[in-house]
Amino acid sequence: MSHARSECGTRSGAPSYRLTFDGAAVTALPGQSVGAALMAAGIVSWRTTRREGRPRGLFCGIGVCFDCLITVDGRPGQRACLVPARDGMRLSAEGGDGEGDGEGGGDGDVD
Ligand code: FES
Repeated sequence: MSHARSECGTRSGAPSYRLTFDGAAVTALPGQSVGAALMAAGIVSWRTTRREGRPRGLFCGIGVCFDCLITVDGRPGQRACLVPARDGMRLSAEGGDGEGDGEGGGDGDVD
């Protein structure tokens, strides 16, 4: 039995969105979150912790831990796992300057 990719919502020819992350092109499929699109592009971290600058990205994936905070179209502190990707979005990493920086829950973020 064949499991065609279309059964998973990734059928060929599906429209894709074009986003940028710190100026680099990233594509996303309709229905994907910003975090999922970044992960699919091989980008696994997009912010750092305040004190030690440790990398953070998706952890819980359901909006609980706040590890995935990202700036979306100039608005900091957005949870990448919850924000649906849209065509033309401008994403940027959040540094360890405290701007939009949650405490995170992945591994305690206590550095
Ligand atoms: S990965 Fe987004 S809140 Fe946990």
